[in-house]
Amino acid sequence: MTLRDNMHREQQSKALLEQAKAFAYEYADGAAERNVFPSKQALADLQQFVEDLPAVSGDAAAILQQLHQYGSPATTAQTGGRYFGFVNGGILPVTLATKWLSDFWDQNTALYVMSPIASKLEEICECWLKQLFGLPDSTVAGFVSGTSSAIVCGLAAARYRLLRNQDWDFNQQGHNGAPPLRIISGRQTHSAVIKAVALLGFGTDNIEWVEADDQGRILPEKLPELDATCIILLQAGNVNSGSFDPYEAICDSANRAGAWVHIDGAFGLWAGGTKRLKHLTKGMEKAHSWSVDGHKTLNTPYDSGILLCRDRDALVMALQASGSYITYTENRDGMLYTPEMSRRARAVELWAALKYLGADGVDELVYGMHERALQFAHELRAAGFEIRNDVVFNQVIVAPADNDLETDKILEAIQDSGECWVGGSVWQGKKVIRISVCSWVTSAADISRSVQAFVAARTAISEK
Ligand SMILES: Cc1ncc(COP(=O)(O)O)c(C=O)c1O
Repeated sequence: MTLRDNMHREQQSKALLEQAKAFAYEYADGAAERNVFPSKQALADLQQFVEDLPAVSGDAAAILQQLHQYGSPATTAQTGGRYFGFVNGGILPVTLATKWLSDFWDQNTALYVMSPIASKLEEICECWLKQLFGLPDSTVAGFVSGTSSAIVCGLAAARYRLLRNQDWDFNQQGHNGAPPLRIISGRQTHSAVIKAVALLGFGTDNIEWVEADDQGRILPEKLPELDATCIILLQAGNVNSGSFDPYEAICDSANRAGAWVHIDGAFGLWAGGTKRLKHLTKGMEKAHSWSVDGHKTLNTPYDSGILLCRDRDALVMALQASGSYITYTENRDGMLYTPEMSRRARAVELWAALKYLGADGVDELVYGMHERALQFAHELRAAGFEIRNDVVFNQVIVAPADNDLETDKILEAIQDSGECWVGGSVWQGKKVIRISVCSWVTSAADISRSVQAFVAARTAISEK
């Protein structure tokens, strides 16, 4: 049998897919109760993957078996209810199911002619997101891999527009001799934003930093004089405290000056899509571009980043490519709004999430995370832990000890317990534990059980 014969047989028999389904169900059934971080044995078993590139073709069933046997245990149980690390998010069942189906389609969403369905779903998602967030009618969306990419797109559009306003075509004339642009950012900006500033050649040394308050919010009164060369970087959801910058007054001044405001809201922008937390994002619609993830708070599968931009021409001009074989149509051609040409059809799951949840469901999902973050903080406080932030959204900062060394030890003990997973960070010069409640699965019982893991870790360290 040739390799092609084998692949035809595998495709037709469906046995491989049935096996994958069985393994997937086994994994899903165990996710809630297993160690949240892989056990030492699971980590050691990763050696099973270390081998020379095979010289000849292998057996598909054996490959799948190996992946399940040694790969599944070496995952973090992100789909269980007690993973609070980073801001990783869970996965809504409807998004997993629609991703499965669309995996069979294997669509490339660069152009309408490559995938009419992907083009249509991107168009619908763009429209719904605009409505949900209350953004201007002119807003367009680019569906990228994550917020890091979305920020690059937003800042590229900003650069194109602000320079164009000064009769400089950045695409043709580039950096050399270009009128300088000013980058203004709060001190607590996420590193993905700083990376975008560096990547686009603005130079991080040129950032005009603005002081932030004790929650990480930019202080509007500390903003320098704005003019038409300014790009102002604001955030919805500080990665430690979850706090939100004050948008309204800053956007009003920026608009008067002809400046551009980008709001990075990787996980926090979703507050603006709720009824009960909308006050946190008041005035955000006056900005020019916004970056947000589906894969965080909305709980779509990875990877799903979104760039929203009110200035279609600036975004398209900053990202557009042409070629003799590229056929744009009057329908939505997704690559106009993204740096990539080929992309997977990630709007499928985004569409499914939004259609399934509806506006009320988005409110319930996001507000539920907030309520459980409040519960976490409340129960930790009751157990004698210090909470270092105002829990306005889904993030909780805990100082479990007076000194960094002990904080590190308690953090390690919590992580080693396998009961839950939380990460470390530094907040106002001190090491802290950082909790992010960002999965629909997390229940009140999960929170209480995790608090017990904090208590047990502290007791264990104090007794050492
Ligand atoms: C506030 C903020 N901005 C940007 C990012 C980067 O997003 P992504 O990992 O989707 O690229 C993150 C990731 O946690 C974030 O929290």
